[in-house]
Amino acid sequence: MIITSCGNSVVLAKKIAKQLKCKFSPLTIKSFPDGDIYLKYNTNLKKQKVVIVQSFQPHADMSLFDIIFAAETAKDLGAKKVILVAPYLGYMRQDKRFHSGECISSRVMAKLLNNSVDKLITIDPHIHRYKSLKDIFTIPAVNLTANNLIADYIEKHFKNEVIIGPDWESYQWAEAIAKRINVEATVLKKERFSSRHVEVKIVKKIPISMKNVVIVDDIISTGHTVIEAAKKAKQFGARSISVIGVHGLFVENALMKLRKAGIKNIITTNCIEGKTAKIDVGSLLVRELKKEKR
Ligand code: R5P
Repeated sequence: MIITSCGNSVVLAKKIAKQLKCKFSPLTIKSFPDGDIYLKYNTNLKKQKVVIVQSFQPHADMSLFDIIFAAETAKDLGAKKVILVAPYLGYMRQDKRFHSGECISSRVMAKLLNNSVDKLITIDPHIHRYKSLKDIFTIPAVNLTANNLIADYIEKHFKNEVIIGPDWESYQWAEAIAKRINVEATVLKKERFSSRHVEVKIVKKIPISMKNVVIVDDIISTGHTVIEAAKKAKQFGARSISVIGVHGLFVENALMKLRKAGIKNIITTNCIEGKTAKIDVGSLLVRELKKEKR
């Protein structure tokens, strides 16, 4: 088995390779002067299982494009199976045509991957209107969750805490995590007016006054969802407010905005690498990939 990456998730890819005792061989990816992609493998792939570890951030479009070229090239060079490990799978939020004429990006992304890779392994993909990854993937698609890792992190680092999920979709993280560590949780009702404008309401009241509130969500993108949830927690007398996201995209200066909003700790997993990535998902991926080594 050979582990590679198109440029994102390199630290994670190396870590996985080391634990699996496999070779890590990075790809060379450059652009020709006109912008066309240049891609080269630097090791022999004949009859190998090739694992491409690549989250869809930064640059979702380029990431997808690189994956398709890398997968097709691996097959062309004789790889016997191409597995995509995308700890953060992009495009999943556009899962319906919200306005007429729109592209349902998740379906297009899945179609491209179905054509080019043999198997997908991902972590906490944004499944909202789909029931499972099977709704869009025809290839085997494994959906892992970082919930237990997040729960263990909260248990180790927080006291007197309650969990808030900022919107209905977040119940699958917020409530499962709260249950595992036996603390109270509430999921807010969110209304989204645009990519940068959301409003939230508390529907199920739990004691928040003087509690250390941990907001848990799958994706932190512009940060507006978390900021609105933090405002509510503050209004109800929270002692401190922290946030844990599975996927920290932090676009448009989100990190700075979250800090300005008085959020004390900003923590994510290393599904997307960065300063906030304190929860390591490597063990989840290694366990899953070991099945491929048998
Ligand atoms: C949406 O349903 C997701 O679970 C997140 O709440 C959302 O993607 C966060 O986006 P933003 O940080 O831009 O508010």
